[in-house]
Amino acid sequence: MAKLIVEGGNKVKGQVDVQGAKNSALPMLSATLLTGDESVLHCCPQISDIDAAIRILRYLGCSAKMHNHTVVVDSSGMNRYDIPENLMRKMRSSVVFLGAIIARTGRAELYFPGGCELGPRPIDLHLDSLRKMGVSIDERFGCISCKVKDTLHGAKIVLPFPSVGATENIILAAVLAKGTTIIANAAREPEIIDLCDYLVRCGAEIYGAGESTIIIYGVEKLKGAVHTIIPDRIVEATLMACCAVTGGEILLKGIITSHIESIIPLFEETGCTVTIKDGNLHLVCPQRLKSFKYARTMPYPGFPTDAQAVMMSVATVAQGTTVFVENIFESRYRHVEELTRLGANIKVANKVAVVEGVDRLFGTKVSAKELRGAASLVVASLRAEGITEIEGIKFLERGYENLEVTLTELGANIRKV
Ligand code: EPZ
Repeated sequence: MAKLIVEGGNKVKGQVDVQGAKNSALPMLSATLLTGDESVLHCCPQISDIDAAIRILRYLGCSAKMHNHTVVVDSSGMNRYDIPENLMRKMRSSVVFLGAIIARTGRAELYFPGGCELGPRPIDLHLDSLRKMGVSIDERFGCISCKVKDTLHGAKIVLPFPSVGATENIILAAVLAKGTTIIANAAREPEIIDLCDYLVRCGAEIYGAGESTIIIYGVEKLKGAVHTIIPDRIVEATLMACCAVTGGEILLKGIITSHIESIIPLFEETGCTVTIKDGNLHLVCPQRLKSFKYARTMPYPGFPTDAQAVMMSVATVAQGTTVFVENIFESRYRHVEELTRLGANIKVANKVAVVEGVDRLFGTKVSAKELRGAASLVVASLRAEGITEIEGIKFLERGYENLEVTLTELGANIRKV
C-alpha cells in the first residue's frame, strides 16, 4: 500500500501549470458516447478516475486511449449498455454515464455501490428527471435498469437542489431527445459550462449553461469534436493552501481566475496577497496567517465543498477561530480526526466545524479516507514539524496528478513509498 512521507517546514515556492479539471473531464468522456464518432479531449488529467472512465468506455465497445494529456475516444463501436459492478466500484461518479448510455442505446444497466466516503450518494434527482423524459427505471439491490418506453423526449424539470450530477445527466439525455428540455435550478458550476461547450461543438443546441435555467433543443445527430478541458479549480485551491501554510509564494499559470472568485478572498483575509495578471495568479504568503473566520459551502458560485478540507488545513495554523459550515454533503469532515492527530484544534457538531488556530503541528502517522480529505492531510503535513506518514493515497490519486512530484518541484520535502 503506497504512502507519502513528508518532512514539514520547507516553503512551497515556484510556478505551476494546473492540471485539467477532473469534474469536467468525467462527464465529457461520458458525452463522447452520444456522437458515435471520434472526439479528442486535450488537457485531460492523468488520474485514476480518468483511467476508470476509459475502462468503462472500452467495456461499452468504444476505442479510448490516452497519450500524455490527450484522450481520443471513438464511440462508433459502442455495443453495450451495461456497466458491471467491478467497473462501477472503481469510480464513485460512474452515474455520470447514465444519461449518455440511455440517449445512445435506449437502455442502461448500472450498479450502485451505495454510499461513498462522503456519506450516502443518492441519485433520486437523476432518476426522477429521467422518468420525466420517458425512461422507465427499475431499481433493485443496487442495480438500476432503465428502458426508454417509446421515445426519449424533452421535459420541463425543476431541480429541488442544483445537483451537479443530475444537471449533467439531464443535459446528456436531452441533447438527442425529441423536443425541448428546460432545467430550472440547474447547477452553475464551470464544469457544466465546459461540458456544454464541448456538446455545442458536437452540434448540440444548448442555451444558458452556467445559469440557473438551461434550455436544450434536441437534435437528430451529434458528431465528434476537439476540445480543451478547463483547468481544475480545486487543484488550484489545494496548491494555494500548500503555499499558505508554508509562508511560500506560487504562480498558477493559465487559470480562469473567475472560477475561484469565492476562494481568493479567504486567502486575502489570512494576509496573503493575490495578484492576477493575464490569466496567471501570483500568491505571496506571510509566515503567520490570520484566520479567515468563516466559510460555508454552497453551490457554485459559492464557496465549493471540494475546497472545504484543504481550506480547513489552512485554518488549523491561522491565528484565531475559523467556523466552517458544510451544507452540501452529509459527512464531509472525516479529515478532522486525522488533522487533530497532527495537533489541530477542531470541534465538529453536525454541519459545523470550529477550528482554533494553533502555532505548531507535529508530524505523525495519518490515513486518508477520501479524496479531498487526503489533500488536506498533504497540506497540513507540509507545515507539521518532523515526519508525517500519509496512508490511503489511492484516494489522492483519484483526483490529483502526481501531487507529490509537483510539490517536490516547488521545494517541499515529500516522497511516495
Ligand atoms: C459533483 O458530485 C462532484 N463530482 C463532486 O466532487 C462535488 O463535491 C459535487 O458535485 C458538488 O459540487 C463530480 O463532478 C464527478 P451533487 P455530485 O449531485 O454530482 C445530494 C470531488 O471531490 N444529491 O451536486 O455527486 C448529494 O447527496 C467530488 O471531486 C441528492 O440528494 O454532487 C449531495 O449531498 C466529490 N440526490 C448534494 O446533493 C441526487 O440525486 C450535492 O450533490 C443527487 C445529489
